[in-house]
Amino acid sequence: MTGDEDRPPIIRLSHVHHAYGRYQALTDLSFEILKNELAFICGPSGAGKTTLLKLLYAEARPARGEIAIDGTRLEDIPRTGLPLLRRKFGVIFQDYKLIPGRSVFENIALVLEAAGHRRALIPKRVLNVLRTVAMDHHAGTLPVQLSGGEQQRVAVARAVVGDPKIILADEPTGNLDEASARAVMDLLQAAYIRGATVVIATHDKAFIRRMGGRILHLKQGRLEAFERVEKHHDHTAL
Ligand SMILES: Nc1ncnc2c1ncn2[C@@H]1O[C@H](COP(=O)(O)OP(=O)(O)O)[C@@H](O)[C@H]1O
Ligand SMILES: [Mg+2]
Repeated sequence: MTGDEDRPPIIRLSHVHHAYGRYQALTDLSFEILKNELAFICGPSGAGKTTLLKLLYAEARPARGEIAIDGTRLEDIPRTGLPLLRRKFGVIFQDYKLIPGRSVFENIALVLEAAGHRRALIPKRVLNVLRTVAMDHHAGTLPVQLSGGEQQRVAVARAVVGDPKIILADEPTGNLDEASARAVMDLLQAAYIRGATVVIATHDKAFIRRMGGRILHLKQGRLEAFERVEKHHDHTAL
């Protein structure tokens, strides 16, 4: 393995603050996440995990401080440049955000269409990714007809299908049973192995031990500590 110093940061925060009205949600965050790093954002409910992810893909702008993604400062990107920026990201939202009027298949195909993939190749790719989350039999189903866990799996498939540079996952195993949670972890791990930078907000300790990586501990909007966790080899999963 090469040292971390060889890899450039793909995410860089410098003295970032964010507030909702008078409520200070994030305070003075400065850190870097390197290219092809696997990073976990941990902290209790209300710590600011979702807010931090929103700032990274520019759904919200920080009240103060600077964020750079892949070498570009977000403040330098005009509103019209946001779609191009967002194409770098695959995002798994805490509340999934699937498009309600579209089938599972269409929800995922749209990502590939927007990225300009050749139409003829899209169906195969969509079905392949649905198979990895055991949702291919629901290709024609509408999101409202799915359970929370099933929507979660579709959201994960959608986030990884376009092979984005950066994957942001907001509590991606929050609503899942053990088997589905493992399928999701495996998919995120596969994206990481392919070279993506993967940032996961979670308090699922089993998840972190299974994957290994760096933990950023958030508490009441402040970065409390960094921790490195070695991948724990799970001999029960054969
Ligand atoms: N849209 C909002 N308006 C007002 N307060 C918010 C909003 N979103 C989040 N907050 C508050 O900011 C804090 C951090 O929220 P959030 O980032 O969702 O935390 P987490 O994802 O770690 O649970 C919480 O106290 C929450 O109530
Ligand atoms: Mg949250």
